[in-house]
Amino acid sequence: MESENTHRGAGAPEADWDALAAGFDDEPDHGLRDPEVRAAWADRLRAWLPGDPADLLDLGCGTGSLSLLAAEQGHRVTAVDRSPAMVERARAKLAGHTAEILRGDAAAPPVGERRFDAVLVRHVLWALPDPAGALRHWTDLLRPTGRIVLVEGVWGTLTPVGIPARRLTALLEPLTRRVRVERLSGHRALWGKEVDDERYAVVATV
Ligand SMILES: C[S@@+](CC[C@H](N)C(=O)[O-])C[C@H]1O[C@@H](n2cnc3c(N)ncnc32)[C@H](O)[C@@H]1O
Repeated sequence: MESENTHRGAGAPEADWDALAAGFDDEPDHGLRDPEVRAAWADRLRAWLPGDPADLLDLGCGTGSLSLLAAEQGHRVTAVDRSPAMVERARAKLAGHTAEILRGDAAAPPVGERRFDAVLVRHVLWALPDPAGALRHWTDLLRPTGRIVLVEGVWGTLTPVGIPARRLTALLEPLTRRVRVERLSGHRALWGKEVDDERYAVVATV
């Protein structure tokens, strides 16, 4: 049976994202270089984000692949990452788009009093030291009727890491009006390969 102890997550030793930045986009779901994978993520984003152009905050944006898709869909993107090498790549990727890429902590993004229609976070929350605190802060950054879109999972089977959907929804339920989980395992087009561990998206509306 699954237990909290079987999923190393919050407080996990942090990867050296500066060192990983150069090769990050080689993974199909990171670089979105394969048109089929790119189209699959574009379709999901279109379904998860507001229909009209919106102010979007992408936290832990990495090389900016999802930020770019969102900008291409007309959203005004603010993206934040703590790794200077990731920020540099994201800035290059989003050059010419309505986007601002900031260096900072995803848990306390340097956005001052600005408020957003959507906060998007893929594959970042699970490793933050205080996921519950980060979620509380992110809901405070939303305008009324805003939404949080989280893409998370539990990776691997022998020594799984990540955050199970049921734990994430339990954290979100007291903070939001509606929480919807979408299973993403088994959708080869999203990952560029067969995936059978737990992958999901959560769309939570405040
Ligand atoms: C697995 S990558 C995901 C990148 C991007 N969200 C994506 O899905 O392509 C994790 C990213 O989160 C960033 N990150 C990790 N902890 C962070 C923190 N506390 N604040 C800001 N960025 C962080 C890393 O630098 C890295 O770029």
